[in-house]
Amino acid sequence: MCGIVAYIGPKNAYPILIKGLKRLEYRGYDSAGVALLNGSLQILKKEGKVSDLENFVAGKSTEGTVGIGHTRWATHGEPCDRNAHPHLSNSGNLAIIHNGIIENYAALKTELELRGYTFESDTDTEVLLNLIEDIQKEEKISTEEAVRVALNEVVGAYAIVVIEKSKPDTLIAARKGSPLVIGIGKGEFFVASDASPIIEYTKNVVYLNDEEFVVLHRDGNIEIKTLGNIQKTPYIQKLEMDLEKIEKGGYDYFMLKEIYEQPQVIRDCMRGRMNAEKGWIKLGGISEFANRINNAKRIIITACGTSWHSGLIAEYLIEELARIPVEVEYASEFRYRNPIVNEKDVVIAISQSGETADTLSAIQIAKDRQALIYGICNVIGSSIARASHAGSYTHAGPEIGVASTKAFSAQVTILTLLALQLAQSNGSISQSRLRQILYELEAIPSKVEGALKTNDKIVEIAKKYKDAKNFLYLGRGLNFPVALEGALKLKEISYIHAEGYPAAEMKHGPIALIDENMPVVFIATNQSAHEKIVSNIQEVKARKGKVIAIVLEGDTVIRGLADEVIEVPETDELLSPLVSIVPLQLLSYHIALMRGCNVDQPRNLAKSVTVE
Ligand code: F6R
Repeated sequence: MCGIVAYIGPKNAYPILIKGLKRLEYRGYDSAGVALLNGSLQILKKEGKVSDLENFVAGKSTEGTVGIGHTRWATHGEPCDRNAHPHLSNSGNLAIIHNGIIENYAALKTELELRGYTFESDTDTEVLLNLIEDIQKEEKISTEEAVRVALNEVVGAYAIVVIEKSKPDTLIAARKGSPLVIGIGKGEFFVASDASPIIEYTKNVVYLNDEEFVVLHRDGNIEIKTLGNIQKTPYIQKLEMDLEKIEKGGYDYFMLKEIYEQPQVIRDCMRGRMNAEKGWIKLGGISEFANRINNAKRIIITACGTSWHSGLIAEYLIEELARIPVEVEYASEFRYRNPIVNEKDVVIAISQSGETADTLSAIQIAKDRQALIYGICNVIGSSIARASHAGSYTHAGPEIGVASTKAFSAQVTILTLLALQLAQSNGSISQSRLRQILYELEAIPSKVEGALKTNDKIVEIAKKYKDAKNFLYLGRGLNFPVALEGALKLKEISYIHAEGYPAAEMKHGPIALIDENMPVVFIATNQSAHEKIVSNIQEVKARKGKVIAIVLEGDTVIRGLADEVIEVPETDELLSPLVSIVPLQLLSYHIALMRGCNVDQPRNLAKSVTVE
């Protein structure tokens, strides 16, 4: 949700900012802009993608060794040049970039207008900047002090960077609820929403905490303070990310690369955490809290979007294997409905980015009510990881495609291990069944490789169905969340309306939609429900619907019924989502591509949803 990047040092800032913005573009791509200090304060900004900004800037001077850059996901104000960041204060002395939302901006704006301030944009950000300027002038204090005072007056979430025309040797940044990383190079500093724009220049970083601000000086001095004005010592950490992991590596799109990375991601996710031969599983995060989790009255899983779908899979797995009751909640609903949660509950929060505002707030509510919070995140050091009492990282590597693919597989892998570890420690699984599942789990990466081999077949299917207006996705048991996830993938990147349902629910309503124009994707890889799924397929065929079925290799029954069949390798039914999701990801990818959609940056979406 908006990407921000800033630089101060001996180099020209513009190329660093542009490269950084391209890496952060997954966070929003409604407009992009930079501000450069070079004696004057030059602002260059444009509606559209970072490449549109580059075209706009071509031929113009881009001098300046201090600068800030922004790629926007619109919240307050439509996407247009005027609302693009950076924004300039009324005096023209200050410029700001901002990721987040200032909730009380309307009241602040009215007050500032009464004091003679005018606004060029519809944004909350411009209000914050003029508030800083007003405080600075009225109280005759330094800009950093004015930033601190202003941030104590605002309600909301922010990561900001401010530069000042009359102080070209200083950058000021602050955060609350939106991420901010500071890169510490040799005689230079970088600031960004995540480490991807920084990694090329330095591995030394400081993650700013909520309600902290930092002043970075050109002479190499770094000062961190809380908004309460308490000095903090910078805690410098080493980045573990590799540059090649955030590049496309020969693929046309990040999404395709990330789909193909899944076998390796699942291996990485399991590495050191299980051994089938010895029959052990060890998720580091659990051990310390194993008793509390096993004695939990219930487990509440909270998440959004794709992560919520992996939560639904975990509900099946934990109840089946560990026999602990599980509830799965949309974080956005959980946080607003006064939920009954107490110290006997364990809340598992799942998030790829670790920054999703709704999930973070749900955690806060559960924490306030004394529940134990177990975070499952991909991004190391993210806000949700830090807000949790315990947890496990999914180690999927950076996921840049906005549609989540490999993060989902990694989440399901971790949640499977979690369910097995709980089952083992509470004695609800026999050692032989445990070993059997662990052996199957070890074989999953090669089965996912098998599922990826369906790609050519899927291209053919995509050609036939790319112009459909609607799709239904149906599955039973563990394949119901897979159906939901398949439908979400299709709608978010191809803009085709798609719905996922439990296959048995079709007869209670959705069957009315079926005619010769309705493709229905059946996820039919669970043997235990095979006959029932076959009946559902027949019901669709009887109404002239088109059936695309994901089946196990050698399933001649469904092959005889369906219009299209995609065969995937068989595995233990409990692990089947890890295999059956792959063709659905590929199907949505190819359909979206054939419809001319930008698969990595679908319209209106952003990777990290840091607003409510
Ligand atoms: C779907 C997608 C979103 C995210 C959701 C939660 O492809 O990417 O639905 O899954 O916004 O994001 P995280 O997992 O970062 O909390």
